[in-house]
Amino acid sequence: MITIFVEEANGTRTPIEVPTDMNLSLMEVLKASEYSIPATCGGMALCATCHVQVIEGEAFMEASSAEWDMFDTLPNVPEGSRLACQMRLIDDMNGLVVRPMVLEAA
Ligand code: FES
Repeated sequence: MITIFVEEANGTRTPIEVPTDMNLSLMEVLKASEYSIPATCGGMALCATCHVQVIEGEAFMEASSAEWDMFDTLPNVPEGSRLACQMRLIDDMNGLVVRPMVLEAA
C-alpha cells in the first residue's frame, strides 16, 4: 500500500491509499476517486484526457515517446507532464503528488 496525493489548482492535497500488488495505473486509481478523469481511450495513450502533472515524485518517471506523441498535440504541457494511464503504481511512488489537467464534469 502506498499513499499518493492529488493536488487541486488551489494547492489543496488529498491523500489516496493505493494497493501496489494489483498493477493499477494512476488513470485507473483517479477514475475510481473523487477526481475522476475522462480517460476516453481507456488507457491506450491515444486521447490525453488522463493528462496529469507530477508535482513531486521520482525522476525515473520520464514520459515515454508514446506520451510525447500525445503531448505534441496539446497547447499546455507543463514540466512533469505524464499520461496517467502509462504510469503503473509501484512502491517507489509512495508520496507521489499529481495534479489532474483534465477532470470529468461533475
Ligand atoms: S486514457 Fe487516453 S491517453 Fe490515457
